[in-house]
Amino acid sequence: MVHIINAKSISCGEFRADLKTYNLEEINKHDNKKDGIWVIFKQGVYDITDFVDKHPGGPSKILMAAGSSIEPFWAIFANHNTQEIYELLESMRIGNISKENVVFNTINENDPYSKEPIRHKALKINGQKPFCAEPPPSLLIESFITPTELFYVRNHLPVPEIDIKTYSLELIVGEVTRKELKFEDIKKYPKYTITSAIMCGGNRRSEMAKEKQLRGLSWGIGAVGNAIWTGARLCDILKDLKINEDDYNHVQFEGYDLDPSGTPYSASIPIHKGMDCRADVILAYEMNGQIIPRDHGFPVRVIVPGVVGARNVKWLAKIIVTKEESQSQWQQRDYKAFSPSTDWDNVDFSTAPAIQEMPVISAICKPEPSETIKVINGKINVKGYAWSGGGRKIIRVDVTNDQGKTWHTANLNAEDYNAKEGKYWSWTLWSIDLPVKKDCKETEIWAKAVDASYNVQPESFRNIWNLRGFLCNAYHRVKVKLEH
Ligand code: HEM
Repeated sequence: MVHIINAKSISCGEFRADLKTYNLEEINKHDNKKDGIWVIFKQGVYDITDFVDKHPGGPSKILMAAGSSIEPFWAIFANHNTQEIYELLESMRIGNISKENVVFNTINENDPYSKEPIRHKALKINGQKPFCAEPPPSLLIESFITPTELFYVRNHLPVPEIDIKTYSLELIVGEVTRKELKFEDIKKYPKYTITSAIMCGGNRRSEMAKEKQLRGLSWGIGAVGNAIWTGARLCDILKDLKINEDDYNHVQFEGYDLDPSGTPYSASIPIHKGMDCRADVILAYEMNGQIIPRDHGFPVRVIVPGVVGARNVKWLAKIIVTKEESQSQWQQRDYKAFSPSTDWDNVDFSTAPAIQEMPVISAICKPEPSETIKVINGKINVKGYAWSGGGRKIIRVDVTNDQGKTWHTANLNAEDYNAKEGKYWSWTLWSIDLPVKKDCKETEIWAKAVDASYNVQPESFRNIWNLRGFLCNAYHRVKVKLEH
């Protein structure tokens, strides 16, 4: 008998003598709202009827397990294997599954994550399966171009294995396949290179989580990187399809990464962004001058500069030009933000648009929280990054260490000097020698950036908190110890 889940918790799913024992046949019947929705985890039986609509991964996903075991699904969405989620599941416990059924019910499959690429050890892992990891803050700002091995990874499913010789990209307009492009066909299009940052919608979520509990991976400030991307322009490929932009509303992208039901990761962008050559959307096959690595979408990844990472679909399998937005979980029920008063009991995902262009943000990368730093000539050196979505240039970064009584303007040390107005896809690296008070043993540094539209970061997380922890762009605050 093989258990895919290595439950850390000893209590989750173990036999409980105080509860009733059910057989599999009875549990199988509970696969609908009317009779109640039950699931099995190891030896435990759970009534999740009331939780289904509150599931952060969406009702359609959790319903795949209705009346049966969640284990094969959690082998893929292995980020569920946390103490917090075990406790949540155990709170819905109603009984046990009979011993003979446990054997019947256990899974003897290969781990879908057994063929993941080898990753750099410096990455801090926030989720092992699917793999989600970020570099340490101090490495992040060492260079304007983030080294590929240190670029954050946010996968949603196992990394697919793709043979470049058989790779094909399907181009669909409405419901009709118009073309299939082989890898070599994509390379025949004019080669186009851009430098662009990509940022995860949950970057800096761990700070927002301190305001109030939320659901999501605990990202630090490193779910962002800046790289050189080379490939074919989406506008050139779409032009060849002779589409009338007015007839459609969205361009959907599907990946080769599949969930247990065979549904691919998918997302979409508005049609104007896909068709407009000035938006610089490219089908990248190179990252930093090398073949794009598996973790970043080998062999082809869509790069939508200025737009949340989730729309930069990896392992591209299909481009679909449609009237409809992508109906995927990640477009409809995730990567959306709500009012701080919206919670899992009253959230209606259909009321919010999918996140596309990102808001202005900055972070202090050096020093790091609680670090002791040397004061030299009454000053400390502070470094960080700033970025805004939609190609908006960073025009200023303000830094204070007296709670905003005095703001000092940082030096903007590196930005894309070739960028044209409205096409600042790269991040800006900044630094400042910040004056500190004499004999002061501790100080809190705050940073905020301003973009070309004079958008500025909000002061705190309190009024931008949202239940899934997206768009975490409040002032970045770092407390450090000083050595005079
Ligand atoms: C009763 C069982 C379940 C519970 C208590 C549960 C709980 C949760 C929680 C708390 C999250 C947010 C985690 C985070 O983002 O850090 C989550 C996300 C998610 N869940 Fe579940 N879940 C259950 C069953 C399932 C099943 C059966 C599936 C798939 C078939 C599933 C698929 C997902 C997906 C796709 C996400 C989003 C992950 C991401 O952001 O990449 N869940 N679930």
